[in-house]
Amino acid sequence: MSTRDTHGRPLQNLRISVTDRCNLRCQYCMPEESYTWLPRKDILDFEEIATLVDAFTDLGVDKVRLTGGEPLLRHDLPDLVRMLATKQPIRDLALTTNGILLSDQAEALKAAGLHRLTVSLDTLREDRFVDLTRRDSLAKVLEGIAAADAAGFKPIKIDTVVMRGINDDELIDLIEFGKRYEAEVRFIEYMDVGGATLWSRDRVVSRDQILETLAAHYGDTKTASSDASAPADRYTLPDGTAFGIIASTTAPFCSACDRARLTADGMWYLCLYARIGTDLRGALRGGASREEISALLQRVWGRRDDRGAERRLAERDRDALLSAEQLRDDPHLEMHTRGG
Ligand code: GTP
Ligand code: 5AD
Ligand code: SF4
Repeated sequence: MSTRDTHGRPLQNLRISVTDRCNLRCQYCMPEESYTWLPRKDILDFEEIATLVDAFTDLGVDKVRLTGGEPLLRHDLPDLVRMLATKQPIRDLALTTNGILLSDQAEALKAAGLHRLTVSLDTLREDRFVDLTRRDSLAKVLEGIAAADAAGFKPIKIDTVVMRGINDDELIDLIEFGKRYEAEVRFIEYMDVGGATLWSRDRVVSRDQILETLAAHYGDTKTASSDASAPADRYTLPDGTAFGIIASTTAPFCSACDRARLTADGMWYLCLYARIGTDLRGALRGGASREEISALLQRVWGRRDDRGAERRLAERDRDALLSAEQLRDDPHLEMHTRGG
């Protein structure tokens, strides 16, 4: 079954946040001193997640990405990976992590059947890492990337959120670091998503500016092939090194967006910017069958009209999307709850 939303977009890509907790406090995502956490009793167990995933695959989902918070904080995560990896409709099973716990878990994740791994890495300088994340863990992250490479995850992707005056002088260093592992570095424009309470327009480094910086150092870059619904535009350097840019802020890709998000407590959001979600935990714990949940998903997706990033781009006086107070009132609005 392939269901289309009101813009003709299919639902193919499900991002599942397995925990809202994180062991970093990145400036672009969790800059506040305190957060409201999801109640533990609401967190879906692995069986519940697997049942929901079955309902989603009934609608055409064939790509699943596990995220957080920091997904490796979830106990026994390889068990969930194993459960999902055996599901025949899922042709791509990936995980996004900050890498801190990766050196301990990379092998178990590979053995459990995880296909692909993306590690967030915004700086290669220790002092800067502390400023950016409020934790002194750069060495652990680098160790994690080495362990993932040794465990056979190839190519690893490295995600870097570029912020003006913070890490925009490290683009070349990050590309060179990526080359060591044949990892594909993707530069992400700083987005005004929920949680980014320090966002301002002048902190955004645009795709064009990123390309200019790289071309000035390496020579002309070429456009490479990319999946039409993938957020990253891909390019190659003159030596053939591939890299990506995710231009969500200056060139949103909503028209091809085939993704949705499930929070750790079973709320389903159709857009990164959506204010309201659908409570799948309630349906599940109320006794709904897989077929009933599939029918619910189909009804909701069929009405989907979201184009969050495009709508934000059209706003003239744009500032942080939500205040810290609004986020404390409803943590579901946070990027770290919704899955980065
Ligand atoms: P693959 O192409 O499957 O490797 O995955 P991906 O590019 O979706 O990977 P990833 O999870 O690493 O996403 C990278 C970043 O892109 C996210 O952390 C966000 O910053 C941004 N992003 C991901 N999904 C969306 C989305 O639905 N909308 C927008 N506007 N940005 C997104
Ligand atoms: N802008 C862009 N990307 C963000 N992420 C979180 N917050 C933001 C933001 N404000 C994404 C990044 C990061 C991952 C943890 O979440 O991809 O690597
Ligand atoms: Fe999809 Fe919303 Fe992101 Fe646009 S902003 S690409 S509709 S999730």
